Amino acid sequence: MSSAILTEGLSKSFGDFRAVDGVDLDVAEGTVLGLLGPNGAGKTTTVRILSTLLRPDGGRAEIHGVDVVRNPQRVRQLIGLTGQYASVDEGISGAENLYMIGRLLELSRRDARDRANQLLERFRLTEAAGRLAKTYSGGMRRRLDLAASLISEPAVLFLDEPTTGLDPRSRNELWDEVRACVRNGTTVLLTTQYMEEAEALADSVVVVDGGRVIASGSTAELRSRFGGQVLHVRPLNPTDLRRVADVLSLAGSSSADVDDADGSVTLAIGDPSALTRAVGALGQSELPIASVETRTPSLDETFLKLTEPATA
Ligand SMILES: Nc1ncnc2c1ncn2[C@@H]1O[C@H](COP(=O)(O)OP(=O)(O)OP(=O)(O)O)[C@@H](O)[C@H]1O
Ligand SMILES: [Mg+2]
Repeated sequence: MSSAILTEGLSKSFGDFRAVDGVDLDVAEGTVLGLLGPNGAGKTTTVRILSTLLRPDGGRAEIHGVDVVRNPQRVRQLIGLTGQYASVDEGISGAENLYMIGRLLELSRRDARDRANQLLERFRLTEAAGRLAKTYSGGMRRRLDLAASLISEPAVLFLDEPTTGLDPRSRNELWDEVRACVRNGTTVLLTTQYMEEAEALADSVVVVDGGRVIASGSTAELRSRFGGQVLHVRPLNPTDLRRVADVLSLAGSSSADVDDADGSVTLAIGDPSALTRAVGALGQSELPIASVETRTPSLDETFLKLTEPATA
């Protein structure tokens, strides 16, 4: 399969500050990449470079083999962009917004009107089509944004935090629309701060922090690598903490961590058999135990763990 989006060592500084620091991406045609990261990670900067709004100062980036710096005009014909902040003109109606974009893309009046009407219907905005965009709810505005980025029928779609601030229903609706685009063969790069969103939509995920890629893979891989089950044991006597840790470390496939302040020991559990082995060994040790529990970190905890400062 060929790459729809390819970057190598992509970098961008603002003054002395490296906002994007050697990012490699390879997104196969027709797939969805989730670009995940906390505030300031460099997600929007990366999207701006890929959509030709910003020049990188290191590395390279291609959309369907077309270099974003050398051939921005051709790249613009291949892409659609829904920015992090609403990009529609609030002072005109939804229908006028879409019509105007069609005209900017050099569609005939008739084609621009037809395309606008199709999209208004698809995004359930027909009723509100004549109303000024500033009277739209957040969800309607996001749908209008997405509709606007689809007028050109782009091969590659960039969505920068498409659902931030939306209620669960609007978010699900938008996810369905993104899935519909993918079914039509569009390649999507979406940025998000929600692991859940990545899990719902993305074939693969790249986690960035401080402008660098810190992890990549499928959401399932990230979950099992960084957020698998944890066995949490609290001995009755804090003086037994090390002995409990030794027992668990021997039985498990990784070493157990002692938390002196909490008076507990945790062991990462790779597979269910490791759990029964560890609990069995604990029983045989006959050390008095106050509590034993297993915890599955939420996706958010996995994300926090991935992006926690190295010193923590
Ligand atoms: N034009 C600019 N001038 C100076 N610094 C900038 C500029 N644009 C972005 N930055 C800085 O680069 C870093 C990355 O910003 P970016 O907007 O790419 O982050 P982000 O991952 O999209 O964050 P968020 O989740 O908050 O949208 C931030 O520290 C930001 O302050
Ligand atoms: Mg951003």
